[in-house]
This record gives sequence, structure tokens and C-alpha cells, in this order.
Amino acid sequence: MFLIVTGTGTEIGKTAVTAAVAALAPGSTAVVKPAQTGVEPGEDGDLAQVRALTGPVTTVELGRYPEPLAPATAARRAGAEPVRPSAVADAARELAGTHDLVLIEGAGGLLVRFDDEGGTIADIASELEAPVLVVTHAGLGALNVAALTAEALRTRGLRCSGVVIGDWPREPDLATRCNLADLPEVSAAPLAGALPHGATASAAFRDIARTALAPELGGTFDAEAFRRAHIS
Ligand SMILES: Nc1ncnc2c1ncn2[C@@H]1O[C@H](COP(=O)(O)OP(=O)(O)O)[C@@H](O)[C@H]1O
Ligand SMILES: [Mg+2]
Repeated sequence: MFLIVTGTGTEIGKTAVTAAVAALAPGSTAVVKPAQTGVEPGEDGDLAQVRALTGPVTTVELGRYPEPLAPATAARRAGAEPVRPSAVADAARELAGTHDLVLIEGAGGLLVRFDDEGGTIADIASELEAPVLVVTHAGLGALNVAALTAEALRTRGLRCSGVVIGDWPREPDLATRCNLADLPEVSAAPLAGALPHGATASAAFRDIARTALAPELGGTFDAEAFRRAHIS
């Protein structure tokens, strides 16, 4: 089974949510980061964080470019070959032969380019016919980017399997709390979780992940109860 993890932008918790899903997955799991940018050879990238948070999991990075840019731009500037969506799909299919779940974390948001032909994580999802999990921030401004992402998925015939809030604040403001009702509405997808702030720094990451992700992702998160607790 494949699951694509994209987001409404960069630094919004895709890696954290990918790690949470991997930590709860009952079977063997592989995590693919097609292109890691902003990291020198030998340095820790997103997959190192996933390994640190989840324990044993297969991780595969297909390309690495030192400048912190979109993969296509970073590859071009490095004079290096870009990572093609078809190569990612091939690698994912091969991993699916030996793993129960293959998670693929994009770079930035849905339409960030991997190559100069305009290939994106959406093309990888299309080729694999994989569902897409959308990670978002929770506060003011989230509805627009979530709606745009959902519309872009729909246009491409892709299925959004859920929306997950990457970093749920300790003291959510009014917009953040109201977004619990509006995010699923504008995304036409269920609220599939909310990782509480501090989760990635906690030794109890797996336990936190369990309460923070919905049953379809292996957790016990109850979106309706969470909404009721925060919206009055
Ligand atoms: N629930 C959380 N609590 C605290 N910090 C978080 C949480 N989720 C993400 N972060 C931190 O925010 C930063 C961005 O998260 P990350 O998962 O790397 O985002 P992305 O993969 O979308 O770029 C990282 O430093 C990460 O450790
Ligand atoms: Mg990441």
C-alpha cells in the first residue's frame, strides 16, 4: 500500500506526520524522500528525523541537493540530474514488494517541481494511484492553502484521504479552533489527526502519535470529539 504525504507548504509538519504514521504502522514500512534539499552529503535530512522518531523503518532518499530550494531549481543549479516522478514511482513499487506500507514525503507543497518538465509529487501519486494525505498548519491562512491543495488534487483525479494538522498549538486561538470545522469542509476530506505541539521533541512520540492520528492511520484520534472540545 502506498501513501503520499504532502502539505500546504514547507515546514508545516510533513516529516513529523510521516514519522507518526510510520510509528503506528502495524507491518513493515518504508519511507521515501524523493528529493532532499538544503542538506549537504552526510548531513541529517528528513529521513534521519523519521528514523529517530520511529525506530526500525526502511528509508530511501533518491536525490540530494545542498541548496535549500525547490528540487528542480536545486538540481539545475547544482548541475545534477533531477529526480523524475517515474523513477520515484519505480522505487516505490519495488519497495512495495517487500514492505506492507510505502510512505512518500514530498518536498514543500503539492505542486513543487522535481524536474524542469514540471514533474511534481502529484505525478508520483497519479502513477501509483496512491491516496494523498495533506498536512497543514492550523491557524489563520490555512483554509485557503488547504482548499487550493484539495482543488489541485481533485483536478488531477487524486484522492485526498485526510487532512492532518502538523503542529497543534498548546493554546489555540479562535481561527485555529474554528479551522477544525472548516479545514475538512474546504478540503472535502476528513480531519485525520492533529499532532500536538512538542510531539517531535518527546520521548513518548509513538504514544502521542497514537492519540493524534485517526483510526485509518492506526491511532485513536476522534475528530468529532476533538472539535467539540475546542469549538464552543
Ligand atoms: N507537533 C510538533 N511539535 C513541535 N514541533 C514540531 C511539530 N511538528 C513539526 N515540528 C517541527 O517543526 C519543524 C518543521 O516540521 P517538519 O515535519 O520538518 O515539516 P516539513 O516536513 O513539512 O518541512 C521541524 O523542526 C519539526 O521538528
Ligand atoms: Mg519534511
